[in-house]
Amino acid sequence: MTRPDPHSCWIPEDGTIKHIHFHLTADFKRRIFFGFAIYDFDKPLSDTLSLDTRKLNIKSVASTDSPEQKYEWKLEDETSLGQTLTISGVRGLRALTIHFSTSPDSDALQWLDPEQTAGKQHPYVLSQCQAILARSVFPCQDSPGVRFTYDVELTVPKGFKAVMGSESLGSEETEQGTLWRFHMKHAIPSYLFALAIGNIASEKIGKKTWIYAEPEILKDAAWEFTGVDRMLECAEAIFGEYVWDRFDLLVMPPSFPYGGMENPTLTFLTPTVIAGDRSLVNVVTHELAHSWTGNLVTNATWEDFWLNEGWTVWAERRILERLEGEESAHLYSVNGRHALDEAIADFGKDSPLTRLKTDLKGHDPDDVYSQIPYEKGYLFLVAVERAVGRNKFDDFVKKYIDRFKFQSLTTDAFLQFLKKELPEAFDKVDVETWVHGTGLPADVPAFQSKLIDDVMDVVRKWKAGQRDIKQAVKSWDVTQKRLFLNELPLKLSHEEISTLDKLFNLADSRNSELKVPWLCMAAASSYKPAYGIIREFLGEVGRGKFLKPLYKALHENPDTKKLAAQIFDEVKDGYHHLSRVAIERILEE
Ligand code: BES
Ligand code: ZN
Repeated sequence: MTRPDPHSCWIPEDGTIKHIHFHLTADFKRRIFFGFAIYDFDKPLSDTLSLDTRKLNIKSVASTDSPEQKYEWKLEDETSLGQTLTISGVRGLRALTIHFSTSPDSDALQWLDPEQTAGKQHPYVLSQCQAILARSVFPCQDSPGVRFTYDVELTVPKGFKAVMGSESLGSEETEQGTLWRFHMKHAIPSYLFALAIGNIASEKIGKKTWIYAEPEILKDAAWEFTGVDRMLECAEAIFGEYVWDRFDLLVMPPSFPYGGMENPTLTFLTPTVIAGDRSLVNVVTHELAHSWTGNLVTNATWEDFWLNEGWTVWAERRILERLEGEESAHLYSVNGRHALDEAIADFGKDSPLTRLKTDLKGHDPDDVYSQIPYEKGYLFLVAVERAVGRNKFDDFVKKYIDRFKFQSLTTDAFLQFLKKELPEAFDKVDVETWVHGTGLPADVPAFQSKLIDDVMDVVRKWKAGQRDIKQAVKSWDVTQKRLFLNELPLKLSHEEISTLDKLFNLADSRNSELKVPWLCMAAASSYKPAYGIIREFLGEVGRGKFLKPLYKALHENPDTKKLAAQIFDEVKDGYHHLSRVAIERILEE
């Protein structure tokens, strides 16, 4: 009786979920989902079945064939992983029906007031289940090692549109409201279960792509992502066929906690990627790449998370290389290296959390989320690619996906496959140190490009006190500007901050990737003219990537420490649970 995943109570020997048929109703007044789910299992169950839950109300557990036959169940004591639902006396059953409801403070679900939406008229609900939050939506074996297909019947208030990360079978009006049906024919892990309900419109923007968003922002969103077909072509050239039929995009209200989330058939996106100039579309490239590295070949546990994210960053940059050229791809890599160095410095270079393969017993994966699995994973794969040469590596990539598609994979299994397919990589790359060592090994791949040199040149001039750089930065793209701001210290003189603002128009920028680094400098340097902008930004945007550095900068400056706490207190109810917890931790330090 072993548990393969430290973050789930799943015991494969007891039986594993194969299919779930959900019958749910969204109740916006009470901010809950209620109803029942029918579970099919891969084999006859053992006497006892354990499922992961968190903040769920369980009403009953019954036989699916004879509903009057009820089974005994109990919710174990709450731990940091939630509450295990233990069902007993179920030996031999192949199916079970569980009646349950979520609670208003479900960790995965964000119930938004109309004021938190673009239209300000209708409420909205969205889900974010990665990493271990699906258990706060429905009882499940909440491990990326368990894959199931599903059907959903979802009743929502009349006139509301429901979307899910699966095929939509349309809707019909009933006495209770509007009934939406969905079907997911491919087996997916629970963390990819996703839904959103609100005033949502849509428009076709590509061969396989519809964009979904509130009507108020649909036009802008559609324009920003019109390049999606070319991305798909590039991705298929790297990985092989796209199997998920549709690649739709849902642009969320601003409180969505991530930049993007690769929910199958329907990527969820923060509106902060709509910069008005297509400069942040790499987030879509990234989520698209997850259709292979993540959704087809899935990390077996969150300790193998680098397999999802490292591979996906590799693919993201390879696609961008085809679309924008090698120089540009290298520029992204250098920005990534910055983020990696920061993450390593934050944990400490000897911290076990800087390993690719981590030991997360006792840690919630979301609490230790960082750029390490992304950027260190990426660098490791580039090291292997450079060691064996591109052609060989590209063949390996296709083979890898084909061999492990619809499977969940451990780091060890990956390394075995690598050893079998590309043994020579082990002669040139210190694989053991890359995967199990802390910090960064000596043989880190470096990146070169004129685009980078141009920026570094101006950085040197700026640091030498030269301020007349308008001409030099005129032709820079957004990624170069990001690199430049990254290279500057956080604490600057007020004159410097104002010069940067004039140079790049940062205070009014729609581009959060530029605006936020500047706001961080302003916060760290007690630059009062920006306080109002900071307050406004933190009150609107819920994306952890921006909130964390900004609150950190405010909190670490004695002048603005109080302001951080005050703003957080005012606006925290608008944040997703994940962002709220992350900020609370920063403000406690
Ligand atoms: N799957 C992740 C988001 C995630 C990771 C959610 C872990 C919860 C737990 C997604 O693919 C992602 O990495 N998004 C990035 C964007 C990207 C361009 C690196 C983000 O949201 O910033
Ligand atoms: Zn990702």
